Amino acid sequence: MSNKKDNTVLEKIVSLCKRRGFVYPSSEIYGGLAAIYDYGHYGTLLKNNIRDSWWKSMIQMRDDVVGLDSAIFMHPTTWVASGHVGGFNDPQIDCKVCKNRFRADHLLKSYGIEADKATLEEINNHLNELRAKKKLKCPNCGSTNLTDAKIFSLMVKSNIGSPTDELKEENVVYLRPETCGGIYLEYKNTVDSLHKKLPFGIAQVGKAFRNEIVARQFIFRTREFEQMEMQYFLRPSMMKEKYEMWKEIRWNWYLANGIPADKIKWYKHDKLAHYASEAYDILYDFKALGGFDEVEGIHARGNWDLTQHAKFSGVDLNYIDEITGDKFIPHIMETSAGLNRMLLMFLDCAYSEEAVKDETRIVMKFPKHLAPIKIAIFPLLRNKPELVKKAKELYLELAKNYMCEFDDNGNIGKRYRRQDEIGTPFCVTVDFDTLEDGQVTVRDRDTMEQTRVKISELENFFQDKFSK
Ligand code: GAP
Repeated sequence: MSNKKDNTVLEKIVSLCKRRGFVYPSSEIYGGLAAIYDYGHYGTLLKNNIRDSWWKSMIQMRDDVVGLDSAIFMHPTTWVASGHVGGFNDPQIDCKVCKNRFRADHLLKSYGIEADKATLEEINNHLNELRAKKKLKCPNCGSTNLTDAKIFSLMVKSNIGSPTDELKEENVVYLRPETCGGIYLEYKNTVDSLHKKLPFGIAQVGKAFRNEIVARQFIFRTREFEQMEMQYFLRPSMMKEKYEMWKEIRWNWYLANGIPADKIKWYKHDKLAHYASEAYDILYDFKALGGFDEVEGIHARGNWDLTQHAKFSGVDLNYIDEITGDKFIPHIMETSAGLNRMLLMFLDCAYSEEAVKDETRIVMKFPKHLAPIKIAIFPLLRNKPELVKKAKELYLELAKNYMCEFDDNGNIGKRYRRQDEIGTPFCVTVDFDTLEDGQVTVRDRDTMEQTRVKISELENFFQDKFSK
């Protein structure tokens, strides 16, 4: 990521999210809970629309991918088999003065030392060398009083089903750190019940939990988040072709959802997990975060996952080809995206400020199909029952097909500004002329143009607008 971070854009987005009911800090009345967020009315609608767009392209429009909704809690051995219990951790270092906590490998990186895959001993050796040269300093307060690095597990524990509060190794269960674990465990049931033939995918959207050491940057990195993952099961000989196919499908999804091509790029991982043969990320150029950062990973994972689960469960997870009789553990390639991180991407991309007369108009230019509210309906005046009645009737009619909002708060100018900040593509005003001529004023979010449209033609009008 580049370091031309513009904190003001991030602050403006965070402030808009709270002011307009997209995202709130969780448990705020108790002082908040670090790196956990709640989604308000518009945030929930936006998140659902992003999820639905993903689901449509990944499942609805494909006959080779099926859906799943697996549980957050899984048998604890799942995470031993996957390597998470032993190895899903980050090296952590604390400043004894300002009490800030850092990832030791990130701190070393700021000294030009690459320690991404280094052991704890190697990391502490590097830190000690810097200490000896009096170079090691807290990036926050400048103190030299830093702890040694220690390993910090990212797994979140719970005691579900256990009568004791103590989280001992024998009674602990984990909140899943990624959703794909549930897909591996339901691979066999899916094949047995749906009779899918290779290659095929299983996809799901759901919560994941990670005890991230450093969880800043608003909803970019949080401790509770949602993933949209798809695992594609295939023969090893198919991997190259299908990997390229899914790279293209995922890239095009961003373009189809209004992300400009010059705002995304590929990042190829050089250092791969021992079982992986290829890993690319899609990076988005966040103006709020100062540059490109990961929103999605596309990974060729070999047959490691199913092999491990077969070994630890003792269940045969081989695929048997009905025609050739071949028996083998399928290989897997996955697409793994963060839903909340995507929401930040769409907020970042949509956020714009325009000078209108002497004012600055803030407008969220979401693609129409993602906008939380599609149409807002206003009576010109809230104290005129005949206008309110007509506007309410219209609202109920349009709400049958579109997520709408009835708004009679403040003057029309204020209502337009509010709907601009929510990103509502169209506002419809019922005025006194409406009662005479059956026409309403439709105002376009992006052009601010106002058109008179007959109520009897509104359905066709919006059908046309929303099909573009
Ligand atoms: N199954 C593979 C996997 O989980 P990952 O790169 O760890 O891979 C995939 O995560 C995606 O999940 C990331 O690209 C990101 O969008 C999202 N993600 C990961 N950790 C996150 C966190 N702490 N907060 C928000 N999103 C996160």
